[in-house]
Amino acid sequence: MSIPNRDSFTSKFGVIAAAAGSAVGLGNIWKFPYEVGQNGGGAFLILYFFFVVVIGLPVMMSEFVIGRKTNVNAVRAFKKLSPNKPWYLTGVMGVAAAFMILSFYGVVAGWTLEYIHLAIVNAFKGQSPEELSKGFNDFITNPIKPVIWQVIFMILTAVVVIGGIKNGIEKITKILMPVLFLIIVLMGIRSLTLGVNTSESGEIIGRSVDGLKFLFRPDFSKIDIDVVLDALGQAFFSLSLGMGTIITYGSYIGKNNNLKKTAVEVAFLDTLIAILAGVAIFPAVFYFNVAPTEGPGLVFSVLPSIFQKMVGGYVWTLAFFVLFAVAALTSSISLLEVAVAYFAEELKVKRVTATIIVASLITILGVACSLSNSVLKDVTILGRNIFDTMDHVSSNFLLPIGGMFIAIFTGWAMKKSEFFNELTNQGAIKVKLFSGIYFIIRFVAPIAIAIVFLYSVGLLG
Ligand code: TRP
Repeated sequence: MSIPNRDSFTSKFGVIAAAAGSAVGLGNIWKFPYEVGQNGGGAFLILYFFFVVVIGLPVMMSEFVIGRKTNVNAVRAFKKLSPNKPWYLTGVMGVAAAFMILSFYGVVAGWTLEYIHLAIVNAFKGQSPEELSKGFNDFITNPIKPVIWQVIFMILTAVVVIGGIKNGIEKITKILMPVLFLIIVLMGIRSLTLGVNTSESGEIIGRSVDGLKFLFRPDFSKIDIDVVLDALGQAFFSLSLGMGTIITYGSYIGKNNNLKKTAVEVAFLDTLIAILAGVAIFPAVFYFNVAPTEGPGLVFSVLPSIFQKMVGGYVWTLAFFVLFAVAALTSSISLLEVAVAYFAEELKVKRVTATIIVASLITILGVACSLSNSVLKDVTILGRNIFDTMDHVSSNFLLPIGGMFIAIFTGWAMKKSEFFNELTNQGAIKVKLFSGIYFIIRFVAPIAIAIVFLYSVGLLG
């Protein structure tokens, strides 16, 4: 039943690069370190690890299995495995989520391009964190500039997706992911070796080691139900689960790939890079005695001032924003691919046509997101501007519900033997702990995700 000459990944490394490229994104670079820092450091880290291993991994295996078993897009995959049943709506929801996530994701990704540009022209030189913060605000509230960068970013994303799987996505992620890894390791080392910062009179201003303590010291007193559920939600978002990204990538994976091993490697790399991002950021923040404030503020306003105070600051700043943009690009490719695969296969149009149409529609939606920081800031839906609405509805509604249905589908609508045969490559490889994985998919994951969802809509907690 598989489509003749369907595009596919050509190597094990290509699969890992593309899937890890999807997982490692804006979520890792600023959100993860910040959440770790604010939610009890090492204690949050332990919870996060637990959820990645015990819930994220089995759900990722489910998505890979659904995708590779069917070799079609995320909507048809459900139709093929369970004809004449409404399960395919899980895929439809995923395609809708891809539109919504990429619309605001492209905005922030566009910001990273502006910051690469600013780093190149050395615009940060001599600016205090306050001045940088003002500069950041002026930039995102400008109605034109962020939109231009966003459009450029969406064109870059579309160009890669038009190239297809082996000549587009696989080729680019095989180059970019090792580059990203190298940059972040170097930045971590630089940040860690800053040591003790003293003023001219010999007073201690800050120590890089305090950043490590901030990041890793388990403070169990900060753990409550909200933090537990935050860790679960972050595990899902960071692993790109719940909307068919991994189903779609799975559909391009060869029959002899060890899907369980691939899932473990992707989850490991995603977690490692999130931790490395924290190691790159917090020791530097503490060395320069800057408040470890939240999200975009930290990355766009504080980091340039930190880097330019370092020896070789010009290079560090540029390297950081290149890394940031690369992480965003390899994730946005995966978001676009979900929708392109669906429209190209279902409407039987060429990949290039589907990509241009889908990317244009998402960009239009995205421009509205960008303008919600400026001319459209008074347009609100239930008290949220357009940008926040896209983020809120997709992350808090569509992803958890999608993840839950994927687990329920695999555990209850598919036969156990179907799942077993696909995961073991028809019995050719051994899969340790299979019963445990299957039990989690049937019971633990759906219940845990239901709790996250109920919590996020305010019915719990
Ligand atoms: N995981 C990416 C990040 O951490 C974002 C992302 C890409 C994503 N594809 C996804 C999130 C699919 C949820 C679902 O930035």
